[in-house]
Amino acid sequence: MNHFAFEARSVSRSFGVVQALKDVSIGIRPGEIHALIGENGAGKSTLMNIFCGKLQPSEGELFRNGAKVSFHAPIDAQRAGVAITPQEVNLVPNLSVAENIMLGAHLTRGIAIDWRATRKAAIDHLHTVDDTIDPRVPVSTLSKAHQQLVQIARAAATDAKILIFDEPTAALTYRETEKLYAYLNAFRAAGGSAFYISHRLDEILDLSDRISVLRDGRFVGELDPSQASKDDMVRMMAGRLVGKGNAAPRLMPDGAETVLKVSSLTRRGEFENVSFELRKGEILGVSGLVGSGRTEVAKCIFGLTRSDAGDIELYGRPSGIGAPADAIRQGLVYLPEERKQEGIFPLLSIAENMALPNLGRFRGIARMRSGEMFAEVQRLVSDLKIKIGHPRDRITSLSGGNQQKVIIGRWLMKNSRILIMDEPTRGIDVAAKFEIQRQLRMLTESTGLSIIFISSELEEVLDVSDRILVMHEGKVKGIFPAGEATQESLLQAAMS
Ligand SMILES: Nc1ncnc2c1ncn2[C@@H]1O[C@H](COP(=O)(O)OP(=O)(O)OP(=O)(O)O)[C@@H](O)[C@H]1O
Ligand SMILES: [Mg+2]
Repeated sequence: MNHFAFEARSVSRSFGVVQALKDVSIGIRPGEIHALIGENGAGKSTLMNIFCGKLQPSEGELFRNGAKVSFHAPIDAQRAGVAITPQEVNLVPNLSVAENIMLGAHLTRGIAIDWRATRKAAIDHLHTVDDTIDPRVPVSTLSKAHQQLVQIARAAATDAKILIFDEPTAALTYRETEKLYAYLNAFRAAGGSAFYISHRLDEILDLSDRISVLRDGRFVGELDPSQASKDDMVRMMAGRLVGKGNAAPRLMPDGAETVLKVSSLTRRGEFENVSFELRKGEILGVSGLVGSGRTEVAKCIFGLTRSDAGDIELYGRPSGIGAPADAIRQGLVYLPEERKQEGIFPLLSIAENMALPNLGRFRGIARMRSGEMFAEVQRLVSDLKIKIGHPRDRITSLSGGNQQKVIIGRWLMKNSRILIMDEPTRGIDVAAKFEIQRQLRMLTESTGLSIIFISSELEEVLDVSDRILVMHEGKVKGIFPAGEATQESLLQAAMS
């Protein structure tokens, strides 16, 4: 007899020919945080979506406190006390924070909805997670990180005993992550159980009581977080040794051409007096806490917003960028951090998503050279190890991390000269991250591409960059050669 609060036995699930889960049995005990790890496309989200009633298994059964349950829809799972905060934020943008939290959980008095009690309950739930968000504002006005916290409060509002977190911290900053940890620890202490998915292996070691590993849809084993190392986790996820490769920082020769020069750039309320140079073939890492103005500077350079003061020079001339189209024409592209809102075309195929901004390249005299285009798509799919069925499948059939890789492929395919990447590896597994870093370095060396690489993960910034620019509260705090910087020195600069 086991003592699982919730359990899957021999669950399988396929989508057409893709078998996303194969005979997986996994259970969670009361008062346990159970981490689930695996490479992109391993089947983590599929399993969690089965747990919360969004998907049905092709085979296998679920048990709640030892009794068999069948979830035909999310409401069935909710009634059984299971709730999820999904991988992609899923809120109603023009409803208020409070309304979003209480969607489907309205309190009634008689047969009428008791709005006052509902609103108060929403605020209480919000405060268990965060006490700085205004419950009255529309969700669309919040940052991605705050939206994520609202999403967590919404799951908490269902009074679930089993909570599922599918990459909750992907969009969270350091401070908000602390809040989530505090919430989770209290939830566990009260006897709640949580499944926790993340590609940040440190936080899994900190937080979880048990780690289960999925690989290619199969359960491959368990690890004890008090014993296991990050290397153990990576090896088990990948089924092989994964090396970082050679990532020694390079020294840009002093004579290297400056391709982008930003001088005293200011946009009131966002950033102030930002100056730096980017050289040909260089990877300039940009680090700092979320909210430090990194994304705002990127958007301004790309022409999405206008500066109040300062200059931008491209290839030694005033850039004259008034809109993103001007930037793209001059070979400067920006890969935004919000893949769902700004990044993918959900109705289009994988190939189209990758090739769309690049169609000009494949235009023949009379018709598209689509064979060439497909060959290029295939090459990137294999270089970046994107897990797909067929390039003509819809992009939404891919796992979260694999969608992100398609977007990276899109901009690598374009023969751009300057690439600004905003948190490009968010949600991407460790082995794939190394691969992407390697590809970026190769590209900068072989084509002279220059990259501005914005990331909140210090380790990654240190690995990929030649120099690192640190921002804090809209100001540049320093630019350091990567070889001389450490995680501690960057953090210090970012918080001072
Ligand atoms: N709706 C769907 N249609 C077709 N295939 C799907 C669908 N949803 C998932 N898959 C496939 O199932 C497999 C597992 O995907 P899943 O989203 O569970 O991965 P994951 O472990 O959550 O990965 P990630 O870390 O990238 O989020 C992938 O190969 C994916 O392409
Ligand atoms: Mg997933």
